[in-house]
Amino acid sequence: MSRDLLGAWSAWRDEYGGMMHLRIWPEHQVVVTDPERVRELLVDHHDALVRWERAIEVFAQLHGHSTLTSEGVAWRTKRHALQPAFTPKAVQAFLPAMAGAADAAFAQWPRSDAAWPIESAFTSLGMDVILRMMFSSGIAADARDAERAVHEAAVAGNAEMYWPKSWPDWMPWKGKKRRALATLDRLITGHVRARMDMPQADWPQDLLTRLLALHIEDPATWPLKAVRDECMTAFLAGHETTAATLTWWAWCMAANPAAQAAARAEVDAVLQDRAPTAADLPALDYLGRTLQETLRLYPAAPVLISRRSVRPITLGGWHLPARTIFAVPLHLMHHDPRWFPEPDAFRPERFASDAPAIPRGAFMPFGTGPRVCLGQHLALAEMTLLAAMFLQRYSVDVPPGATPPKPVFNITLRPETPLVLRLTARVR
Ligand code: HEM
Repeated sequence: MSRDLLGAWSAWRDEYGGMMHLRIWPEHQVVVTDPERVRELLVDHHDALVRWERAIEVFAQLHGHSTLTSEGVAWRTKRHALQPAFTPKAVQAFLPAMAGAADAAFAQWPRSDAAWPIESAFTSLGMDVILRMMFSSGIAADARDAERAVHEAAVAGNAEMYWPKSWPDWMPWKGKKRRALATLDRLITGHVRARMDMPQADWPQDLLTRLLALHIEDPATWPLKAVRDECMTAFLAGHETTAATLTWWAWCMAANPAAQAAARAEVDAVLQDRAPTAADLPALDYLGRTLQETLRLYPAAPVLISRRSVRPITLGGWHLPARTIFAVPLHLMHHDPRWFPEPDAFRPERFASDAPAIPRGAFMPFGTGPRVCLGQHLALAEMTLLAAMFLQRYSVDVPPGATPPKPVFNITLRPETPLVLRLTARVR
């Protein structure tokens, strides 16, 4: 397991089936990969579960007490208050801000580059998008610092998560982590303070104004610290995952030129050179499938779906005691050859309406049940819009001699070394 976690789990799944028990002293862990059991766990038994507390302990250092990191009544109150801002209809209002960020970014990209650092470029763009949606202000000169800080915080968090306890942050070797947390806190707190100093009549219509409305209405439930924590979660969850997915998508497009050509032909036919609007997104059907297939091959946030039971439950006929740890390895589920023949191959047509049905729960990059990703509609709209605008302007190829990037967990699933691709602007 320590050499190759997913390889070991995959072999055991073939031998023992969709639910297996691992005894990792002092814990009992149950790895669930059967789609029906996964839904039973995350939907029917939702009330008997909390997120795996070690991951939350590590996340909370940065996120504080937000929708992502809280449980019970506190979680329900936050989720309920935020949900209206993240419905499919509500996210349409953010599309012009997203298109503005993409326009500004692409204006800075080169016309051609044999080794363009596409991962870093999409990460900056993802950060700009979320900053515009949250704070109505784009990426500033301190963006590089923020990008580095997000990376350092993820590396430190990932390293700590699999140990039962962390060394205190004042230890001399934790300087990089301390600086990263301070940089991110300054960024978010700075925006909240700046808004508070502004006359209310001038507050723009963005996510921060929505959160501050909650604070003004009910400061006991929504102190400024809670607003700050929610902003931090939206900032981190809202750009890391979409940037990782767009990076993998760019790789899939470069490695599968026929799919890239088909997606571009669709974008050209639907948009006729215009910027996409909300009304266009449903018509970008094939492009959407390339993104789904990317999320199947490279689910961006696999670590989040681990839970601990707080009381005994029965799952698939098994009686499991309180304090069992449950792992739902999305990557493994998404590579199940029963529903995804030749599971390593990039085949967007798997998601076509006339393709064989995929069982419920077999594909769930955003999770499922009441704790399903809050930002799933936002993420899908954003990624479709940015991918379409990208294909209008550029094509990508695998640089000669480059090998397929190896996915590694760094909170999100990222290429082991930063991805570079050959970028060429289209003649228009
Ligand atoms: C490709 C993009 C994304 C992927 C793959 C993704 C995936 C996930 C997953 C797997 C979970 C955990 C679900 C569970 O535990 O059952 C989650 C939770 C969450 N995500 Fe996302 N996410 C994405 C984008 C976003 C965006 C854009 C936002 C917000 C701006 C966001 C905010 C959240 C929040 C707040 C939670 C916690 C929800 C809760 O506990 O109630 N995510 N996401």
